[in-house]
Amino acid sequence: MQTIRLAVVGLGHRGRLMVKLAHDGFKNLKVVAACDCDPLLWTEKQHLIDRPMKDVLPEAKFYTSYDQMLEEMGHEIDMVLVETGADVHAEFCMKALKRDIHVFSDIPSVATLKEAKELYEAEKASKAMVMTGANANETFYSNAMLDLYKRGMLGEMIYMEAEYIGGSMRSIPRSENPILNHSPWRSVVPGIRYCTHSLGPLLRLMREVLRYTYCIGTNAHVDPDRPGDDVQSAFFQTESGVAIRLLRSGRCDGGLVSNFGHHSYRGWGTKGYFEMIGDRGPKNPMCFRFQSKELYCGQDLIEVPSKYMPNEYSHMEVAKVGHGGCDYAVLDKAFQTLWKDLDEFPITLKDGLVMTIPGIYAAKSAAQGGMKMTIRYPWEEGFDEDIVNVDSMPDIKCKK
Ligand SMILES: NC(=O)c1ccc[n+]([C@@H]2O[C@H](COP(=O)([O-])OP(=O)(O)OC[C@H]3O[C@@H](n4cnc5c(N)ncnc54)[C@H](O)[C@@H]3O)[C@@H](O)[C@H]2O)c1
Repeated sequence: MQTIRLAVVGLGHRGRLMVKLAHDGFKNLKVVAACDCDPLLWTEKQHLIDRPMKDVLPEAKFYTSYDQMLEEMGHEIDMVLVETGADVHAEFCMKALKRDIHVFSDIPSVATLKEAKELYEAEKASKAMVMTGANANETFYSNAMLDLYKRGMLGEMIYMEAEYIGGSMRSIPRSENPILNHSPWRSVVPGIRYCTHSLGPLLRLMREVLRYTYCIGTNAHVDPDRPGDDVQSAFFQTESGVAIRLLRSGRCDGGLVSNFGHHSYRGWGTKGYFEMIGDRGPKNPMCFRFQSKELYCGQDLIEVPSKYMPNEYSHMEVAKVGHGGCDYAVLDKAFQTLWKDLDEFPITLKDGLVMTIPGIYAAKSAAQGGMKMTIRYPWEEGFDEDIVNVDSMPDIKCKK
């Protein structure tokens, strides 16, 4: 494919920045259509962008109906960027796949097990493919962990931890917060369901999928009138026993009153150890440390500065926006696949489901007070029964 004709659905905080980056940062790509049910996001200037989107994307045709956009322009679109809320991706992806249009879907991939099965089947039936927009997998630190693992410096991973603590977004009144006031999913989706930034990089170091989970939540203390947990903590385990502990704020709009250390990871392997500790304020920037029995000099912790920007893109001025460069990297990986007519995106739908589905089960576990659950995937036996039995369980604890 010589020139990618891109469309976007969802012009919220993230959709605007991602489609602008695609438009400004890549040659051989045209943004031909854009859709949001709120037309003001097209015509009026919004947070962090100096012009209305209609001026950022002058060649694009705007729609308030996704169906109409696909109906009228489907044959002129090669890829749809799905940037709707975190709990409503699958239907947009499936409609594009039905027309053999490739999809770049932001994460998490799906909100329910039923959607997971339907999306998995839809991709199998389509000539097009889904790229999972897991930008955390493209960070410097994720690549550094993977490099150590692939070179045998860590051996096989035994136990890992991740933390993703949303900042103090709730300290600004919702109506005055430009990220929250248009974005219902951030206060509705249980934090543990938004697990892909944490599990994605760690699953790259593993040979097995996550099979079991139990998760506990703290209940609501910061604002007792709101349902849900302030904090959730899940254990995940593979069939061979490898374990991951994940700490999340209980809602995607933050829970704790800290404003530092969003992402941290630690991992112990049979031959080595790594940690990526998120910043602790400006005086303590994020840092990456590791230890390896395989290195003569690796007995003590070796420390390197950590960052989001992957090395491969660090010389490119245009890449230096959007999560420190990893947004550019994940878009570039997707577009290169189309330009080079490759058979598979580097982060497939299956990869996305493997990092999304454990969070769906974990949320159910937390709502049940920490019940241990067996995780299954759409290509496995027993998944259809789980669609019936697990999807019907509540996501949030009933208030006593
Ligand atoms: N990868 C990352 O680092 C990262 C960061 C933030 C958000 N995200 C993901 O990006 C996505 C978007 O996040 P956001 O903060 O921009 O959310 P948002 O709620 O601000 O924006 C979603 C937009 O979708 C639109 N929309 C909803 N239903 C629609 C429909 N039927 N037709 C057309 N438009 C519709 C809404 O009007 C809204 O403008 C989410 O999936 C989130 O998980 C990823």
